[in-house]
Amino acid sequence: MVQLRLPKASRVKTGKTWNAPGLKGRWRELRIYRWNPDDEENPRLDTYWVNEDECGPMVLDALIKIKNEIDPTLTFRRSCREGICGSCAMNIDGTNDLACLKGVDEVSGPVTVMPLPHMSIVKDLVPDLTNFYAQHRSIEPWLKTETPTPPKEWKQSKADRESLDGLYECILCACCSTSCPSYWWNSDRYLGPAALLQAYRWVIDSRDEATGERLDNLEDPFRLYRCHTIMNCVKACPKELSPAKAIAELKKLMVQRRV
Ligand code: SF4
Ligand code: SF4
Ligand code: FES
Repeated sequence: MVQLRLPKASRVKTGKTWNAPGLKGRWRELRIYRWNPDDEENPRLDTYWVNEDECGPMVLDALIKIKNEIDPTLTFRRSCREGICGSCAMNIDGTNDLACLKGVDEVSGPVTVMPLPHMSIVKDLVPDLTNFYAQHRSIEPWLKTETPTPPKEWKQSKADRESLDGLYECILCACCSTSCPSYWWNSDRYLGPAALLQAYRWVIDSRDEATGERLDNLEDPFRLYRCHTIMNCVKACPKELSPAKAIAELKKLMVQRRV
């Protein structure tokens, strides 16, 4: 039977309010998803108040302030704080984004912060990306060649290098894959937009000599063809890349090699 509601143990409850807004300053309310695998409790949304006058402008700044000054148990990933590492991806105000690039002032009203959707959760805002990384590995994201390695470097023309623009910038944040309905329902077999964008990046690299083998690896009713061009991935990408276009190009190459 189709289950349309979350199972009881997974329903998100109203949690605790940790502090109150002060009388002076610009106070913002953050409602943050909390779940700890070590207790038997349901997930909950806890409330925190942060004074914007004493905090950096980004959602990540607010999370760090909360962790440092209010609640050291709050758990999230972050590293670079400038949109390069991809580790602070989460769902902010209903949209997947990087917490370090999303301004608190871009959200009106309380800022709701959830983990990336449809993923198993390790703790609080930390999703389990084991499958996501395994899928990336499965497309063999490295240069494969038969020609002996040149003494200095593998050269590329300017135009060949430029053909990788819009692809090499991917930071593997998973915002796209976790916004894709096809990936939600079939993430065990469908590679999802991030891994497919990476696959295309290596297929069209002029220096790579394993194109046929790479396309063979994608020739499967699920791995590539579960993309139904819903386009959520394009909207979700914080680096403004287009995984949907890369997927369409891969499908085109599949057809071309048959005719
Ligand atoms: S275009 Fe394809 S990959 Fe992107 S969200 Fe839609 S189904 Fe998923
Ligand atoms: S394509 Fe964009 S959203 Fe997807 S993993 Fe790469 S950077 Fe993140
Ligand atoms: S902390 Fe690295 S992308 Fe946000």
